[in-house]
Amino acid sequence: MINVDLEGPVINRHVYGHFAEHLGRCIYGGFYVGEDSDIPNEGGIRLDVVEALRALDIPNLRWPGGCFADEYHWMDGIGPKDERPSMINTHWGGVEENNHFGTHEFMALCELLGTEPYISGNVGSGTVREMSEWVEYLTRDGDSPMVRLRKANGRQEPWRVKFWGLGNETWGCGGNMSAGHYADEARRYATYCRDYGDNKLYRIAAGAADFSYDWTETLMKQLSHLGCQRAERPLYQAVSVHYYTIAGTWQDKGSATEFDTDEYYETMVKAARTDELLTGHSNVMDCYDEQKTIGIVLDEWGTWWNVEPGTNPGFLYQQNTLRDALVASLHFDIFHRHADRLVMANIAQTVNVLQAMILTDPDSGALVLTPTYHVFEMNKGHQDASSLRVDTPDGLPSREVGSTRLDTVSVSASRKDGRLLVSLSNLDADEDVDVEFDLRGGSVGEVSSRILTAGALQEHNAPDAPEAVAPRVHEEVSLADGRLRVHVPAHSFVTVEGTIA
Ligand code: AHR
Repeated sequence: MINVDLEGPVINRHVYGHFAEHLGRCIYGGFYVGEDSDIPNEGGIRLDVVEALRALDIPNLRWPGGCFADEYHWMDGIGPKDERPSMINTHWGGVEENNHFGTHEFMALCELLGTEPYISGNVGSGTVREMSEWVEYLTRDGDSPMVRLRKANGRQEPWRVKFWGLGNETWGCGGNMSAGHYADEARRYATYCRDYGDNKLYRIAAGAADFSYDWTETLMKQLSHLGCQRAERPLYQAVSVHYYTIAGTWQDKGSATEFDTDEYYETMVKAARTDELLTGHSNVMDCYDEQKTIGIVLDEWGTWWNVEPGTNPGFLYQQNTLRDALVASLHFDIFHRHADRLVMANIAQTVNVLQAMILTDPDSGALVLTPTYHVFEMNKGHQDASSLRVDTPDGLPSREVGSTRLDTVSVSASRKDGRLLVSLSNLDADEDVDVEFDLRGGSVGEVSSRILTAGALQEHNAPDAPEAVAPRVHEEVSLADGRLRVHVPAHSFVTVEGTIA
């Protein structure tokens, strides 16, 4: 049953967020080709990529890393390009970074995309002063040393930047710190990342890997001001967590395109654990913040496979099949169910890296939309919509996978502006399913439906077959006497939309 009149927590649009790191061909060749490129661009930013992403209404973009963020020195990326110093990107392929894509280029990209910036500051190898001055450079109005520098570089008005990351994976590539040490660092950095004018920062402390609940607990214990009673807000407003879906081990994560059904189910079990992950971290946070004022930011999630054969191992370039799309649709159902605490999530990463929306050909420049892209597009109506509870008293199909059970049908629903959106994933590799819901609390009409599926889970899009996995109209949906019936074929993702009277 779906109670269309009982609105639950609003699904923050930021859970549909994105991530772009200076890694492989994400920035260079992906988002940015330089002004002299034959590929149509504005200030070096690829316009076809911008156009494709605008159709997703992407709410925010995290930058410049990832691990890269903790060795990035923002002042190297401003001013005339030919005078910018270069550096070695030690994490990702040891390649030389010329800093041609820097703060101004990133903010221009956000403006073109119509998205909010989420800047990840350098705690690992930077200084408090460096981060504090970056905030001043970006967001301060009036007159000050950093404002004068910004104006000298051609930008008069301050930008608005809300989301600010205090480091990244500080338990690992971001400095190999202990939780207690990092909590002190987060407090120190947060202190000097100032709110200028009405630009109020939303400071995100670098959180746990996977199920390390003790890391979250340490951060929650430390978020308040110790002595000062005058402070309006805690030192940071959210804690992050990272969780990747892999089928094998970190040493051998499996191929993106060559996998069998067992490996497929293993992938889905791993993806489904995102529910356990968010529940666990949220429960820990409840002990310190019953009112749920501090958010969880899952600012890296998605599939991570072995790189495509023949590509640079440090570039994390992987194909994207129908399996990846189902991983994404399953995540979104979980995100919707955790709308009370999850304020943001960022898929890793938007272009040419890990579970990308867009793949570009390094030689021809041709652009391909991945199956994952289509899930983001089909689900965009959930952004800022009220979540609706979906009750299935008779249960939904499930199957044994190793020592665990996988629910093979996943559903979530929301309403916004008089429209209902229901998302359904059938994760079973072989069996179709018919799902039926009582829609109570409102009269739903004019139902339409789309489906994303393919002949095989391994199917993917390529320049010579760009629509092998693309949404199509789905006819096998009916609505009669307040009952919604949907036929969901094996390994498919279906959305149903309708008006609510
Ligand atoms: O997304 C790739 C990398 O994964 C990021 O740089 C890092 O934060 C994580 O380990």
